[in-house]
Amino acid sequence: GAPLRVGMFGGGTVGGGVYEICEQDKKAFFQGLGCDSEIIKVCVRDSKKPRDYKMDPKTEVVTDYAAILDDDSINCVVELMGGVTDAKDVVFEAIRRNKHVVTANKALVAAYLGEIQELLKEHPGVTFGYEAAVCGGIPIIATLQNDYLGDKILKVCGIMNGTTNFMLSKMESEGADYGEVLKEAQDLGYAEADPTADVEGFDVQAKIALLTKLAFGATVPSDLIQCKGISSLTSVDFEYAKMMKSTIKLLGTAMRSPDGEKLSVFVSPVLVPLSHPIASARGAGNIVSVDSKNMGTASFSGPGAGRYPTANSVVNDIVRLGTGKVGSPFPFDKEWELESDFTSAFYL
Ligand code: NDP
Ligand code: HSE
Repeated sequence: GAPLRVGMFGGGTVGGGVYEICEQDKKAFFQGLGCDSEIIKVCVRDSKKPRDYKMDPKTEVVTDYAAILDDDSINCVVELMGGVTDAKDVVFEAIRRNKHVVTANKALVAAYLGEIQELLKEHPGVTFGYEAAVCGGIPIIATLQNDYLGDKILKVCGIMNGTTNFMLSKMESEGADYGEVLKEAQDLGYAEADPTADVEGFDVQAKIALLTKLAFGATVPSDLIQCKGISSLTSVDFEYAKMMKSTIKLLGTAMRSPDGEKLSVFVSPVLVPLSHPIASARGAGNIVSVDSKNMGTASFSGPGAGRYPTANSVVNDIVRLGTGKVGSPFPFDKEWELESDFTSAFYL
């Protein structure tokens, strides 16, 4: 691929990790992979803020978006600011200017899936990577983009939020207080800027929308994805779960109806039998089980949030871009009728 000159928006939990991985011993790192890439500028809100990672004085720290978007030498934008307003302007403008885009922003990609697809069609030279947007370090996007094309997916279901899984694990094992354990997840860098998105299930709503697109080709607006989070769970729920040899997990699910004609997509806390692989994900761990005609059930698990696992997914997108190995971001489209019967939402 052509040399990548990267402008990065956001230098916080994930951005800091991406910067560290890319800039540490970068010659050996990138060139060993046949990828010539460099982070030229980083855009943050406050350029004076002390960072918890070392910055090369050659990297320009800016606060003005135009410093990156107007710079014709920059051919790749990495968006790690979060949110759906400024981040949308940055990502859309970058594509319009034929800059490649890598983002970890599931809220943005899910909210503007159709528009992003349309814009990418108008700019066929632009590649779009969003591996970090679902399940942090688990390569579930690439897996669904590449490894199920000859198969027929029946169901995608799993734990897609590290913050709430961390909270549920501690509430169950240590009887931890909801507020304290949420604060701990925030301190560890797992939570969204507004953790309501984590605890009320909106983060999973965006993630299951993206997996639904990849698994079934459907663009499902968030308001059609029934969503219940974990904020009303109490210790009594865990006691009942224990009596049923189960645990409680916040799951995102997308599945075909038995006749295969309709699609159900929903987010809810679910009673999961302890013997099921999904029950084994602890802490900020995520796991996605994919049921398909040829493969049967395959589960993909690993760290779902946090600096380095997430940064690793971003860096892999950059390397794929730099080595010309990025495939279609959304391999296929299909119209679906959506089901509104969620009787299976609370038991696995
Ligand atoms: P942080 O809050 O740690 O970092 C956000 C960064 O963006 C900061 O450097 C901030 O600047 C900068 N920023 C925010 N708003 C603006 C703005 N309007 N203009 C310029 N700069 C801005 O967030 P994270 O790194 O945790 O998350 C970033 C993205 O990655 C989000 O989309 C999130 O959903 C996603 N993500 C996060 C994961 C995680 O584990 N944390 C995992 C997977 C995805 P400053 O530092 O000056 O305040
Ligand atoms: N807040 C998200 C989580 C970050 O806790 O899973 C990873 O997408």
